[in-house]
Amino acid sequence: MVKLKWGLVGGGEGSQIGPAHRLGAQADGLFTLTAGALDHDADRGRAFAQDLGIASDRAYGDWAEMLAAESAREDRVDLVTVATPNATHFEITKAFLQAGFHVLCEKPMTMTVAEAEEIVQTVAETGKICAVNYCYSAYPLVREMRRMVTDGEIGKVRLVVTNFSHGHHADAADADNPRLRWRYDPAMAGVSGQFADCGIHALHMAGFICNDQVTALQADFASTVASRTLEDDAMVNFRMQGGTVGRLWTSSVALGRQHGFDIQVFGETGGLRWASEQPNQVLYTPLNGRTQIIEKGEGGLSDEAARLSRVPIAHPEGFPLAVANIYVDLAASIRGQPHGALPTAEDGLRSIAAIHQAVISARDDGAWVDARPPSLRGQ
Ligand code: NAI
Repeated sequence: MVKLKWGLVGGGEGSQIGPAHRLGAQADGLFTLTAGALDHDADRGRAFAQDLGIASDRAYGDWAEMLAAESAREDRVDLVTVATPNATHFEITKAFLQAGFHVLCEKPMTMTVAEAEEIVQTVAETGKICAVNYCYSAYPLVREMRRMVTDGEIGKVRLVVTNFSHGHHADAADADNPRLRWRYDPAMAGVSGQFADCGIHALHMAGFICNDQVTALQADFASTVASRTLEDDAMVNFRMQGGTVGRLWTSSVALGRQHGFDIQVFGETGGLRWASEQPNQVLYTPLNGRTQIIEKGEGGLSDEAARLSRVPIAHPEGFPLAVANIYVDLAASIRGQPHGALPTAEDGLRSIAAIHQAVISARDDGAWVDARPPSLRGQ
């Protein structure tokens, strides 16, 4: 299969989401990072793009240069990911769509409703794909929850309760850090801070799992760090078209919550719970029954959840990234660069010796034996 050519705007060196896009897009060998305008600083962006293996004539200083040059090429990129700060999403996304590129845009898609309407209109006019990176909805067990709700396995959904709260912006003394400041600055982030940053995932997920749409809401926003214009904490009550009641809490000052996204769906005949800190499991409690644990990768999952269980059971979410870390250190080692601890042939030898010695011990009613290989017994 011919690999698709992929272009990235934003996601430069040191950015938060850039590494996830680079790993995600290239994990299956479906896309090759071919072009990029990666940084607000043109020189830094060009240099980092070339470090990542992008050819120098496709390592662009800014997105407008990339748009013009890629549009003129016969071998233009197939997909452009927009992973810049929020205020730039609309202009960049619209321009690439209009030029005939498919786009994956980071959330929030735009700053205003009018802009979002324009993007939807542009998609209709161009026929191009514009996806938005609500990535949590792609966890296999989130898909399983959606399937269970759709198939009526928990009955009519009465209530959805979801939290996306962390404490990573709780340090008032660090509030002026440029990496944080833009998220609470209306000029850069839009009308909302934390709700648009994290609450948006929770709101999307509620609708996604319930296969329903939010039709009404009420909100209480608070800026608990005084210097912030936009909210860093929000409580939102909502209602869905099908009558489901929704409760959503999102915060960036909730010290102690680390990857704090969880969602519970309460139906007339059962309840479901998923949390990003335990993404391998959904807890399912049938009415009048005991809580059951549904595991990623186990038998009996829906086709969709099975398809997205990328590594078999016994390997948790994140396992491929542990393998990727081995490759990162291997590449550094081959290049003679500093790297982390690589499991070596000596580790392999120690393991083999220990296995053989364990067999001997087991045959000898569990006697203590030297676990080391003969060559390393003196060490
Ligand atoms: P960041 O501040 O860590 O990095 C932004 C990157 O974009 C930097 O490399 C910067 O130099 C570059 N940049 C800024 N303006 C640019 C421009 N005009 N052209 C090219 N590059 C430009 O920001 P972060 O946290 O990576 O967020 C970026 C976007 O991703 C935001 O919209 C954010 O909401 C979203 N995001 C989504 C997540 C998700 O779960 N889907 C998680 C984290 C962020």
